[in-house]
Amino acid sequence: MSNHVNSDAHHGGANQGNDAAPIDAGPIDAESTDASAGGATPSIDSGRRRALMSLGAGVAAVAAAGCTGAYAAAGAGPKAGAATSAAGTSATGTSIAGSQGRHRSLSGKTAIVTGARNNLGRGFAVALAGLGANVLVHQHRAATRAQAEETANMCREHGVKAEIYTADLSRVANVRKMYDEAFAAFGRVDIVVNNAGRIKKLPLAEISEEEFDRCNGINNKAMFFSMQEAAKRIGDGGRIINIGTSLLNATTSFYSVYAGTKAPMEEYTRMLAREIGHRDITVNVVAPGPVDTPFFHGQETPQSVNYIQNATPAKRLGKVSDIVPMVAFLATPEARWITGQTVWVNDGYSTR
Ligand SMILES: NC(=O)c1ccc[n+]([C@@H]2O[C@H](COP(=O)([O-])OP(=O)(O)OC[C@H]3O[C@@H](n4cnc5c(N)ncnc54)[C@H](OP(=O)(O)O)[C@@H]3O)[C@@H](O)[C@H]2O)c1
Repeated sequence: MSNHVNSDAHHGGANQGNDAAPIDAGPIDAESTDASAGGATPSIDSGRRRALMSLGAGVAAVAAAGCTGAYAAAGAGPKAGAATSAAGTSATGTSIAGSQGRHRSLSGKTAIVTGARNNLGRGFAVALAGLGANVLVHQHRAATRAQAEETANMCREHGVKAEIYTADLSRVANVRKMYDEAFAAFGRVDIVVNNAGRIKKLPLAEISEEEFDRCNGINNKAMFFSMQEAAKRIGDGGRIINIGTSLLNATTSFYSVYAGTKAPMEEYTRMLAREIGHRDITVNVVAPGPVDTPFFHGQETPQSVNYIQNATPAKRLGKVSDIVPMVAFLATPEARWITGQTVWVNDGYSTR
């Protein structure tokens, strides 16, 4: 795989320099995310595991602090009644307690998280478990099954059920089967986080038909058909959260096949939000900026990483824990009035 140092203006100019703060959290695994890569299945160390587990509880606590106010208590907003009853929350809306044994806002609900063997997907899965949801942990390659087992165990530590579903989601039959498996295991689907994705940084002139099909298969086709299946089968009050990229708002050379195949999800999201919003289902895109995972590093060089991390006020890459709270919040009943949006979570890397 060839790496390309980006020379776009927004990756350089006044922001470029050598005073970058050190990256404060290394990637959780060291594996290439190229689907052709081999099968090492490193386990995360106990420090990072503890951090991620506490993130699950912490997200719940943050949600509790931020979401129990006047809106829910007053029943304000046209969707308030339906959303809270769908969630089984109290009339006061004080639903998110944030740890096992107490009432949690997603208790009794089921979440599907795709691409959840590690990194962002694991963060989303564990956070939703921390809010009380049972989780179907989707993972792709047999070689990384052990990582998915670890994600599932981390979910179970929050006192919920977790099952693993292994499949290539670029096949529509496998997408549909994922929902079948969730219903078989948990009897319902309430939250879907379409997180799985594939990245390739190459000049447009060098993208093969095979690479286009692979990126398109997971970034676009799987996204569309998972949203279609969710539209048919997700419960009223449900949440569909699609993981995009800030590159959709920061045109960046050599990312044509990645950003291009991710771009349609924004349109699908806006369409579906309007089509099924009457069932109190929300549909949103969360679009992270560059996050410190092997997915990102596999496409970059140390020089380009330095360039990129200096393009934000904090002058660092994002961490999994920077992105997770937005996804967790959008999954809660209190996020009922946010739909059809792309939420840029990127420390101002791009703004709109
Ligand atoms: N890291 C960033 O800087 C960044 C920034 C913006 C957005 N994102 C988005 O965040 C999401 C997660 O990224 P990450 O950084 O956490 O990397 P990651 O752990 O590598 O996540 C990508 C996941 O997608 C899975 N996947 C790839 N092709 C698949 C297929 N055909 N069928 C089913 N699953 C497939 C991968 O499984 P295998 O590894 O087993 O193939 C992997 O679990 C991606 O959608 C990415 O576009 C990441």
